[in-house]
Amino acid sequence: MTHRIWLAPMQGYTELLFRDVYAEIFSGVDIAISPFISALPEGRAKDREWNDVLPDDNTKMPVIPQIMGNVAEDLALLANRLYDLGHPVVNINLGCPYKMVAKKKKGSGILCFPDELDALLETLVSRMKGRLSIKTRLGRHTREEFHTLIPIYNRYPLEDLTVHPRTGIQMYTGEPDLAFFEEVLPEIRHRVIYNGDLWSLTRFEALSNRFPSISDWMIGRWILPNPFLPAEIKGARFEEEEKLLLLKRFHDAIYERQVERLDGPGHVTSVMKAFWVYFKDAFEHGDRLFKPLRRISDIDSYEAAVAQLFAGKPAVADFNV
Ligand SMILES: Cc1cc2nc3c(=O)[nH]c(=O)nc-3n(C[C@H](O)[C@H](O)[C@H](O)COP(=O)(O)O)c2cc1C
Repeated sequence: MTHRIWLAPMQGYTELLFRDVYAEIFSGVDIAISPFISALPEGRAKDREWNDVLPDDNTKMPVIPQIMGNVAEDLALLANRLYDLGHPVVNINLGCPYKMVAKKKKGSGILCFPDELDALLETLVSRMKGRLSIKTRLGRHTREEFHTLIPIYNRYPLEDLTVHPRTGIQMYTGEPDLAFFEEVLPEIRHRVIYNGDLWSLTRFEALSNRFPSISDWMIGRWILPNPFLPAEIKGARFEEEEKLLLLKRFHDAIYERQVERLDGPGHVTSVMKAFWVYFKDAFEHGDRLFKPLRRISDIDSYEAAVAQLFAGKPAVADFNV
C-alpha cells in the first residue's frame, strides 16, 4: 500500500515558515493541514492566519486550510473565501481541547452537542462551494460520544475524516484509545486519516499492521524530534551522523528566519524555546540539556546552549519503542 503522510496543524509550530523549512530539508510529507483560522463575523479572518495559506506562498508543501468556529454562516463564508483564493478543500477543527475554546462550543467543545453539530454541518456543507474535511477527537467527555458522531459524519459528503482517538478533556495525556478506534473504524464510511502518538517507524509498523485499511497518517508533535519519520515510512534510512547534520540544518534555518522575522532577542528566544519543547527530544539527554535553555533570553546564551545540545547524540534509540 502507498502511504500518504500528513503534517498535522499545530498553532505556533507548523505555520508556513516551518512548512517551508521542513520541505527544503526533509522529504516524505505529502500534505499539511494549516493551524486553524478563526471564522470571524462575515467570514473574515485575522491577517496573520489568512496569510499563512496564500497559495502563491505555499509552493513547497501543499496545504489545506483549517477553519474553526461555531457559527455555520461565518464558517461557510470563510470557506468560500478560501475556495475563491484557490483552496477546493477546507478542514474544520472539531478537536481543539482547550477549555477557553471548548466552552464556546468550538473545537472539541461541540462534540457533546451532536444536534448542534449536525445542524452546523448541514448549513456549512450546503453553503460551501468546495469540499469539507473534518479533524475530530472521539468526543468531548467520553469516547462513547463517538457512537453518536459517526452517523452524523457519515451523512455528509466529506473529503476525509481525521481521527485523533482521544477525548477533548484528555488533552494530550494518556494513550490514544486504539482498541476503541479499532472497534468503530468499520462504521466510518469516509477515508480515515489516523492521528496520534505516531512517533517512530516501529510504531508506524505496528499501527499500519493493526489498521490495514488506513493509508493516510498524520504526524504532529513528533515531527520535531523525529523529522526523518515521513521519509523512513517511505523507505529512506539515515545514519546517526547524517541525522545530526540534518537536525542542525533544520534548527539553523528555522532560527535564521525567525531572527529575520521577529523583533528583538526576547521574542526570538521565546519562539525558539517553544520549538525546543519538542525538538529537545531529538537528542540523547535532551530533557536535561534543555533545562538551562529555558531561562535564557539573550542571543549569545541561546547560541551557547544550543551548541551544547548539538554536541550530543541524536536520540535514535528512544524512537524505536
Ligand atoms: C502546540 C499544539 C498546537 C496545535 N494546534 C492545532 C490546530 O491548530 N488545529 C488542530 O486541529 N489541531 C491542533 N493540534 C493538535 C494536533 O494537530 C494533533 O492532533 C495532536 O498533537 C495529536 O497528534 P500527535 O500525537 O502526532 O502530536 C495542536 C497540538 C499542539 C501540541
